[in-house]
Amino acid sequence: MMTKRKILITCALPYANGPIHLGHMLEHIEADIYARFQKMYGHDCIFICADDTHGTPIMIGAQKAGLTPEDYIAKWHQDHTQDFKNFNINFDHYGSTHSLENKNLCELFYARMKEAGHIHKKPVDQLYCENDKMFLPDRFVKGGCPKCASPDQYGDSCDVCGATYEPTELKNPGCSICGTKPVLKTGQNIFFKLNHFKSYLQEWVPKHTSSDISKKAMEWFDEDLRDLDISRGAPYFGFEIPGEDQKYFYVWVDAPMGYISTTEQFLKKQNRNRDEYWAPDSKAEIYHFVGKDIVRFHTVFWPAFLKSAGFKSPDKVHVHGHVMVNGEKMSKSKGTFISASIYTKHLNPEYLRYYYATKLNATVDDLDLNFNDFTNRINSDLVGKIVNLASRGAQMLNKQFQSQASICDADGIKLLENLKLASSKIAEYYDQREYVKATTLIRELAESTNKYFDEKAPWKTAAVNPEETQKVLTTTINAFRILTIFLKPIMPKLASNVSQLFNEAEYQWADAAKLIENQKINDYIHLASRIDPVNIQAMIDEQKKIFEASAPVVQKPAIKTATPSEIEFADFEKIDLRIGHIIEAEEIKEADKLLRLKVDIGNGVTKQIIAGIKTAYSAEKILGRKVLICANLKPRKMKFGISEGMVLAAGDGGSDLFILSADEGAKTGSKVK
Ligand code: MSP
Ligand code: ZN
Repeated sequence: MMTKRKILITCALPYANGPIHLGHMLEHIEADIYARFQKMYGHDCIFICADDTHGTPIMIGAQKAGLTPEDYIAKWHQDHTQDFKNFNINFDHYGSTHSLENKNLCELFYARMKEAGHIHKKPVDQLYCENDKMFLPDRFVKGGCPKCASPDQYGDSCDVCGATYEPTELKNPGCSICGTKPVLKTGQNIFFKLNHFKSYLQEWVPKHTSSDISKKAMEWFDEDLRDLDISRGAPYFGFEIPGEDQKYFYVWVDAPMGYISTTEQFLKKQNRNRDEYWAPDSKAEIYHFVGKDIVRFHTVFWPAFLKSAGFKSPDKVHVHGHVMVNGEKMSKSKGTFISASIYTKHLNPEYLRYYYATKLNATVDDLDLNFNDFTNRINSDLVGKIVNLASRGAQMLNKQFQSQASICDADGIKLLENLKLASSKIAEYYDQREYVKATTLIRELAESTNKYFDEKAPWKTAAVNPEETQKVLTTTINAFRILTIFLKPIMPKLASNVSQLFNEAEYQWADAAKLIENQKINDYIHLASRIDPVNIQAMIDEQKKIFEASAPVVQKPAIKTATPSEIEFADFEKIDLRIGHIIEAEEIKEADKLLRLKVDIGNGVTKQIIAGIKTAYSAEKILGRKVLICANLKPRKMKFGISEGMVLAAGDGGSDLFILSADEGAKTGSKVK
């Protein structure tokens, strides 16, 4: 008897501020295959994930969308859940870090850390935007790199020379939201004494990560570990730190706790308790699947937090590389930053699952989604070699033998024995996350079955030797059935359709040992079609269009300029300023900032003006107003049409924008002098 393992599998929690894309999907597919395999093998396995909902980018994202953070994250939760469903990612529970369970947990961790002496406070100087009234996280300040002086670099590192630095070192820093020059402000921040766990972690890391990861990670211990700032000042979307005035837990504190609170939420529904998995002496196995960009959070901070608060640490952190498309980084402008929902509109999600599986192994190497290779592997391997067995074998059995399977022939029995023998090897590959090896072996077995089929040539023998032919077809459908069971963790939908062909329940791993003999099968229903490259191009084109529609048109943060030099009165007179009456106003949905206006400028003349004021004015609010217009501005062709003038407004942009208008009584079209 196999010993039943108790396993908990997690994926990194996606941020609730954008769509799931094919990069995320690699991780979810990898973990889902793992979880599905463990479940069908008979282990007690649960698979959970959640949205990561806190932090500055999400707070700003909500503001820009004109939603409360709660509504904003709820919208993304729905969106993400749908995408995962479309890709057959079979979570037992998909939660959110913005939950009561997570808040309680955060407070419990903090209390225990504090009690054990791992927390202390110290003053820090940080950049603060007086306009937005907030401390600016690294990625919200831009300025010149202190090393190479390249302009427009983020507050933590330079894209040009690769230097890393503190945001306070930037030359000429500007708030990335409004452009204002930030000031230095001192705050009392709260720190976690990471270095208390240095020797624990030094031992922990090599035991819980693969050798390539631990080699890299061990370099982090060459020096003492810096204190980790776990607090953020208001405004912040997150959990308040108890006993402090307007201080919040940094998002990377409550995010990994989402693993525990999501487990807890799931178990609660069954009257069970999180200790089953997370108590320090729990025998359950815990595996985190994460990308290489967040290794440090999962192999240093997280195990230290868990240790400090008396929870079990994960058995392994499984790290994967990044998805590239056609050999390059995913790119929005090239249309290769493909969202899960756009993919689903054009291609079969199981094909991506299969393709990723043929390229996934237990290393952190990046994975190239090459569309030619993708098309080939699906068309010639999956459809041509594997599914084709069923469409040939089962259809012939349906048509010429009234769907009746008989028994397998002698050569067939040998072939099937060979297939069944591979079962434990393939299981081992799944368990080791060596999906390349699993799919290679499955493909080889399919090749040997095709060879058998071609040699037996049942289409030739049917008339002369029906009995033998029926046996060959019986063998063929059995081989296909076994291969399908081996593929089920990768292609659950296919497997489910195939089990219907044979009138069977959902396959378990052990079902590969059974044979279908002397029974009727159902009519073959079409299982898979080849990819038409036209669909791939259509997907890329659609993705590109979405990017172009949302790309900023004229929106640089307003940088405060000095007073312009003097002009002659004649210069001023060149400007045709007058009172315009807004008679139509419409929001341009695809653009963040634009309204389309129709403005009456007197004498029956109207102009279309595309105005970048949506961040401060809704169409409704501005309709019917009399405003100041520059009426002789050269018409400009913009993305959403021609703009034939300008509405005058003052302010820095964003919500800081004020339309100018004349006092009561001013007539439409009258000139400003
Ligand atoms: N919210 C954090 C994780 C918190 S875990 C307590 C985060 N979110 S993320 O949405 O940016 O990324 C989620 C996962 O997707 C990460 O493991 C990340 O490595 C992975 N990927 C994001 N883009 C990816 C690719 N292009 N390729 C492969 N995986 C990538 O980080
Ligand atoms: Zn600002």
